[in-house]
Amino acid sequence: RMYRRQMMCRRDIDDFNVPFLAIYGSLIPPEEEKLKQKQLVAILEKLVSKEWPTSNLYLYGSCANSFGVSKSDIDVCLAIEEADMEKSKIIMKLADILQSDNLQNVQALTRARVPIVKLMDPVTGISCDICINNLLAVVNTKLLRDYAHIDPRLRQLAFIIKHWAKSRRVNETYHGTLSSYAYVLMCIHFLQMRRPAILPCLQEMETTYSVTVDDVHCAYFDQVEKLCDFGRHNKESIAQLVRGFFHYWAYCHDYANTVISVRTGSIISKREKDWTRRIGNDRHLICIEDPFEISHDLGRVVDKHSIKVLREEFERAAEVMQNDPNPCIKLFEPY
Ligand code: GTP
Ligand code: MG
Repeated sequence: RMYRRQMMCRRDIDDFNVPFLAIYGSLIPPEEEKLKQKQLVAILEKLVSKEWPTSNLYLYGSCANSFGVSKSDIDVCLAIEEADMEKSKIIMKLADILQSDNLQNVQALTRARVPIVKLMDPVTGISCDICINNLLAVVNTKLLRDYAHIDPRLRQLAFIIKHWAKSRRVNETYHGTLSSYAYVLMCIHFLQMRRPAILPCLQEMETTYSVTVDDVHCAYFDQVEKLCDFGRHNKESIAQLVRGFFHYWAYCHDYANTVISVRTGSIISKREKDWTRRIGNDRHLICIEDPFEISHDLGRVVDKHSIKVLREEFERAAEVMQNDPNPCIKLFEPY
């Protein structure tokens, strides 16, 4: 009887498009927030250029890759040619410079894996992390933003997946789950693999943009305005894609043998990357290749315990998308 009741309550998957799009809409940062971010960056630029006139400030991460939800912190990269100065020294000097202005809570975190200055602007209430010369992050930010311009479903899907991951607490790299960056790559890859494809593989196309940073050659097709109808043959709706995404990670992905690769727009084998065994702390239990630093597995933070948590959450989400009468609520129920 239970089953029959559920069958009767359960509507067509496409009935959930409107509520999913409403959730997406509520997460988009308002224009005024973007404006405040720009103001803060302008203040920082002025302070920094007094000390280092030839330096540049770049926004990266979710405030610049178009996958940022409302009220996110901003990530800033200071590009500076101080070859002879240690990064931690630059960080301390930067903290000094910013401290003297009326910014709040300026902290130099010199011993973190990526040394940063953290601060809060009391006028706008915006928090910000500043790192030094992390230009690969600036380039991968551009790649993500360029992908977002090709088909609107990418941004919709990624917002919903990020919102799910934060609600279910599987977006905490310090607890062995995945970064937001990893989730966005999973979404791009998923849309590259749909048939018909919703996204192309920009790195396999003619090169129109190329830079070499930290000895890594980054090249891809960035004239994405020419690709705005790329996904037109695929009519899948946002609700179908959310369901498909979780179905893939719950039941279809071959965790033991494969790596997802946005760089090739395909699935490649762990063996070919030599990611079949644990090396140091890298266990490769879920493998997500960085598009530029190809020796870099974004799943490396996942351990024996957290892989279980993660897969159970994928299965829970797949089950909710398949059977729950109210997936738009159930999916995001706090853990
Ligand atoms: P939220 O702050 O959660 O909204 O997302 P975010 O996009 O800012 O993501 P996150 O804080 O995970 O990372 C910030 C940026 O740093 C990313 O957008 C990437 O550009 C970069 N990044 C993060 N992790 C890695 C990594 O492991 N490798 C590389 N190359 N870049 C990374
Ligand atoms: Mg961020």
